[in-house]
Amino acid sequence: MHEPPVKPIEWCGDEVKIIDQRRLPGEEHILSLRTTGEFEEAIKTLAVRGAPLIGIAAAMGVAVASRRLVSSTWAEFETSLRESIQVLHGTRPTASNLFWALKRMEKILEDTTHDESPEACSRALVKEALGIYEEDLEMGIKIGKAGAGLIRDGFSILTHCNAGGLATSGFGTALAPVYWAFNKGVQLKVYADETRPLLQGARLTAWELARAGIDVTVICDSAAHIMLSRAKIDLVLVGADRITLSGDFANKIGTRGVAMSAHAAGVPFYVAAPSSTIDFDLEKGAQIPIEERDALEVTHVGGVRITPPGVAAYNPAFDVTPAEYVSGFITEKGLINPPYLENLASIRSDDPQMH
Ligand code: MRU
Repeated sequence: MHEPPVKPIEWCGDEVKIIDQRRLPGEEHILSLRTTGEFEEAIKTLAVRGAPLIGIAAAMGVAVASRRLVSSTWAEFETSLRESIQVLHGTRPTASNLFWALKRMEKILEDTTHDESPEACSRALVKEALGIYEEDLEMGIKIGKAGAGLIRDGFSILTHCNAGGLATSGFGTALAPVYWAFNKGVQLKVYADETRPLLQGARLTAWELARAGIDVTVICDSAAHIMLSRAKIDLVLVGADRITLSGDFANKIGTRGVAMSAHAAGVPFYVAAPSSTIDFDLEKGAQIPIEERDALEVTHVGGVRITPPGVAAYNPAFDVTPAEYVSGFITEKGLINPPYLENLASIRSDDPQMH
């Protein structure tokens, strides 16, 4: 499997093209992003989303901004790019990949001395952003291979939210093993939790799997529990927005309940993520900042109000699943089993990019 099932982002030099994920599955609309404000808006409103893809988009946003500044003085170039980095930093608080990617871009800016021209620095920034994109493609392939062995013929797999090609450079994290096994001829079926309130499972996971010819069935979030307890699911695969050293991790709201039900039913629950999702500075899940989004996402569906006027709604976008419910992590370095404190930390020690 060399070609990704979907291409959610494309570097085009002075602009970046993305599939506008707000409009899927109704419309495959391509959006061009040029200014930092456009990147900010696209990330905040989930036109571009999913932890790895947010990181890639932010890195490309800095690189595009640098292209426009090549004839500026060094001082203007540096000040303006630092502002762009700060703006993108403030778009979404939970996914590690955003901060990891922006840190890499900031390092390039710092390592380029004032003696070099903005042009040379911009070239280095573009190279770094494209490197982050290419590395993510590689990671997707490796996660696919590492996780495919968990899927046996006839398996029903449950997933939550969208951790597929659309959430990454193209191969996905939780769905990468599914694509890999499917391409090897393994018979499988995927159940996609609809994922209230923004329906990433119903809209996005179902869209990309059906497009690839994979048998997918959408279920209400609350149906996951009876399916797990009645032995209708063989394996749960989800992605992550931030993994702490203890193995506690944040993912889309509702993930924790699925993990607890899987644990109670004795169904293996695996988390697939590249090492850029691991926050080596955090030990416990309680330390992860949880994004709280607009109540309108809960009170309205497709622009139509579903709650009585004046009634409040609360909308945390992520939850934290304790490590005790995780059977293992599927990373580009292979399967990581407990004890997580030791085994997740060892990923860092053998990777210079992680320091
Ligand atoms: O709010 P979203 O749609 O960006 O949330 C995405 C998720 O929670 C994904 O499961 C996670 O980012 C992993 S994506 C490979």
